[in-house]
Amino acid sequence: MRAPMQLKRAVGRIERRRLVLQQARDRLRSPQQRNRLGQFATPGALARETLQYAHQLLGSRPVRFLDPAIGTGSFYAALLREWPVADVAAATGFEIDAHYGEPCRTLWQGTPLRLRLEDFTAAAAPASQARRYNLLICNPPYVRHHHLQSSAKLRLQQQSLLATGVRLNGLAGLYAHFITIAHPWMSDDAIAGWLIPSEFMDVNYGRELKRYLLHTVTLLRIHRFDPTEVQFRDALVSSALVWLRNQRPGNAHQVEFTYGGSLSQPRTRGLVPASRLESAAKWSAFPAALGSARFAAGLTLGEYFRVQRGIATGANAFFIMTPEQAAERGIPRQYLRPILPGPRQLESDEVFADDSGEPRLVRGLWLLDCRLPEELIRVQHPQLWRYLEAGSAELTRRYLCSRRSPWYLQEAREPTAFLCTYMARRGRGGVQRFIYNRSRAIGANSYLMLYPRNALARFIGADPARARLVWQVLKGIASEVMIAGGRVYGGGLHKLEPGELASIPAAGITALLQN
Ligand SMILES: C[S@@+](CC[C@H](N)C(=O)[O-])C[C@H]1O[C@@H](n2cnc3c(N)ncnc32)[C@H](O)[C@@H]1O
Repeated sequence: MRAPMQLKRAVGRIERRRLVLQQARDRLRSPQQRNRLGQFATPGALARETLQYAHQLLGSRPVRFLDPAIGTGSFYAALLREWPVADVAAATGFEIDAHYGEPCRTLWQGTPLRLRLEDFTAAAAPASQARRYNLLICNPPYVRHHHLQSSAKLRLQQQSLLATGVRLNGLAGLYAHFITIAHPWMSDDAIAGWLIPSEFMDVNYGRELKRYLLHTVTLLRIHRFDPTEVQFRDALVSSALVWLRNQRPGNAHQVEFTYGGSLSQPRTRGLVPASRLESAAKWSAFPAALGSARFAAGLTLGEYFRVQRGIATGANAFFIMTPEQAAERGIPRQYLRPILPGPRQLESDEVFADDSGEPRLVRGLWLLDCRLPEELIRVQHPQLWRYLEAGSAELTRRYLCSRRSPWYLQEAREPTAFLCTYMARRGRGGVQRFIYNRSRAIGANSYLMLYPRNALARFIGADPARARLVWQVLKGIASEVMIAGGRVYGGGLHKLEPGELASIPAAGITALLQN
C-alpha cells in the first residue's frame, strides 16, 4: 500500500491515465452495448464537485466510501483528491463488467480501494454498523425497465422490498433499485449522493422512490442540471444529484432544490417543505414553482379548454399529402380534409383562411379521411381503392392501423382556433408555441388542440378579434411556467402532455374574462 502522502501526489497522474483509459474502453463498445449496462462515465470535473460537496456534508470524520457502480473510478479519484488520504478508512467499489473493472483494479492498485467485480444488487450488505459505509456516492446504471428481464426485475423488486420495505413499481429503472438496495449498506447518519436521471421526480413510477426519500431517509437536496448543459451528452438524459442522510426526517423538514449552473453555483435555489413535496406530483417544478401562480389557487388552462392531442394517423407519409400528390393519386376531394404541416414547417403562428375555411399556407396539406367501407370504395372510387390497396399490406401490420376498422379510418377531430406544439427545444425558438388557427385545418399529434369551454367559448363567440386576444394571452404565459409544467428530456427537449398543458396556470384568461 502506498503511503498517504505518496498517494496524494500520485492521484493527479493516475486520474489522467484513468481518463485516457476510460475513453479507450468506451470506444471498444457500441452505444447499444453501453446502454445495456448503463455505462456512461461521470465527467471528472463533476465528480470532483460532487466529492467537494460530500465533504462539506460529512465534515472531517474518517470516511468509509462506497461506490456500487464504480466503472473506472471517477468518484474514487475525486475522493482521493478532495479528502486527506489518511482519512480514508475504507473504500469499496462494485463493478459488474470486467471491461471497466479490470482497468479500474490495475489503476488503483496499492490504494485503499477494494474492488469487487460483482453484481452489486446481488451482494449481501454488511451486518454490522462498523462495516457499513458513511459515504455512498454513485452514478448508477441508467437501464430502463424494459431492458431488464422479467426474472431480474422480480428479483430486484424483492431485494428492494427486503432492503427498505419499498415495493418499487415495475416500470422503475435499475437506478431506482440501486438506491433502495444500497440502503442497508449505509451506516446510521451516512451521506449519500446519487447522480440519476431526473424523470423519477415527475413520473408515476417514481412515486415509491419519492416516498422512500421523504420517509425512510432525510432528503437534503436535489440539484437538477439544466438539460441544455447536458452532463452525459451520449446518454441523452437530464440528470439530478440527489443528496440524503441516513436518518429519519425531522418534523418540519425542508428540502433544498437547486437548478441549473453547477452544484456549487446553481442558477436558482429554494427551500421546499417536505410536507409540500408529499402532495406535489411533479418535483421538477421546484424551485421555479415556489410562489408561482400555479400553487396560489389560480385556475388552470384545463378550466377554460378541453385539451386533446392532435390525431395519430398511423402513417403520416401515407395519409398526409400535398394537393399535387392527391391529384396524382386521384383521391376524390370529399375525402380530403386540410391538416396543418408539422410545427417546423408551419410558416407562421397565425394561420389565415380563405372564404371556404381552407388554410392559406404556402405548403398546404391534405389528410386522407374516408369513412366508406372497402366494398363501396372499390366500386365507387377505383383510383382511391388502388391507392389503399397499395398501402394496405404494410400498413395493416402497423400498430394503429391494425387496430382500426377499416384500417384506414382516421380519428374524428374538430378544428379549433388554438393549438400548442407538443414538443419544443430550448435555445431553438424557446418553449412551446401557441398557434392561432383561423382555418378549418386540424392538427396531427405534433400539436395539442385546445377547445374553449363554457365561459371562454361564450366570450369568444364568433368574434375573431376576441379569439386573437385569447391567443395573445396564451402566448404571454411565461416560459418558466411552461417549462415547469412539462417534462424535460436530455438535450433541452421539452414535452407537454395534454394533462400537463391543462395544469398550466391561466391567470391571464381569468383576468380577460373578468374585464
Ligand atoms: C453510469 S456508469 C458509472 C461509472 C462510474 N461510477 C462513473 O461515474 O464514471 C455505471 C457503471 O455501473 C456498472 N454496472 C451496471 N450494472 C451493475 C451492477 N448490477 N453491479 C455493479 N455494477 C454495475 C456499469 O458497468 C458501469 O460501469
